[in-house]
Amino acid sequence: MKKLFSAVLVLMLVLSLAACGKKSETTGKEDKKITVGVVQTNANESDWRTANTNSINKAFEEAGFETKMVFGEGDHAKQISQAQQLIQEEVDYLVVLGLQSAGWEDVAKAAKEAGIPFIMADRKLDLPEDLYTAMVCSDFEAEGKKAVDWLKKQNLPSYKIVVLGGDTGSSAQLGRSKAIEEGAAANGWEIVFNQNMKGWDENLAKQAVADLIASGTEFNVIYAENDNMARGACDAMSAAGITYGKNGDVKVIAFDANKWALEKVLAGEFNLDVECNPLHGPRIVKLIKQLEAGEKIEKNVYVEEEVFDCDTITREMIDARSY
Ligand code: AHR
Repeated sequence: MKKLFSAVLVLMLVLSLAACGKKSETTGKEDKKITVGVVQTNANESDWRTANTNSINKAFEEAGFETKMVFGEGDHAKQISQAQQLIQEEVDYLVVLGLQSAGWEDVAKAAKEAGIPFIMADRKLDLPEDLYTAMVCSDFEAEGKKAVDWLKKQNLPSYKIVVLGGDTGSSAQLGRSKAIEEGAAANGWEIVFNQNMKGWDENLAKQAVADLIASGTEFNVIYAENDNMARGACDAMSAAGITYGKNGDVKVIAFDANKWALEKVLAGEFNLDVECNPLHGPRIVKLIKQLEAGEKIEKNVYVEEEVFDCDTITREMIDARSY
């Protein structure tokens, strides 16, 4: 009986030690998991956002990071308090994808004081270089300029442009809207409608275009700041019997280049789709591993992105896409 009791005691001791976590063979210190706080915009904002969230979660899991992801759900103040909370919880890294580009100074200062590297992803935030560690974002104004350059090459007899903007104040909306507004001014094009759709909402975009059609507003270009809103606009035009796309009366420009949207480019429903690449997970993992290793990093990285044109896109190009 005594032997059995001692055996059980030894087994319990071994199991409890094992539960304390793996010890490093080299330092003998416990290999603590790297914890990354991620302040994401909205869970169901767009197909792009879903691909972005999945990319981050998958890459962080594969890297063995502990991920603490929170969602602002359209509320900038909520994102700020979420970020402050993650700093209080002493995450090892803070990654922010901001609903708004402005208003992040206090968070960035708090992270710096806490010794927590601040990484901005997707959307550049209005911060001086000393207040963030790294940036891996899209250049949204450059994306917009690609669309403007394409539009100019169409040499339309007249330009009556409907701008369906994204979330007001996000760097994605600000950059893309700046490009089309400056392009229209420089080329004498008319913007007949220019409104931002809260949450990049597809149904809001569809309703806005339906209302324009019902009011008799003439237009021949849809400049939709993401694929979902472009699809909403096309649904409204279809319902009204308006032709669009490659052989239609209305040119359709979209942003993001989700796979399903590229099928629409290939089918000639969208004329142009400007890529905004969401696959930031591996890029952030690489940054964190470099920082962990004490390596010098490239502080500001703009993601390389393509343009897809209905006149040149191929099946092979779509099949090669990963989102
Ligand atoms: O920040 C990128 C933008 O946010 C994408 O273009 C849009 O689809 C997403 O919701």
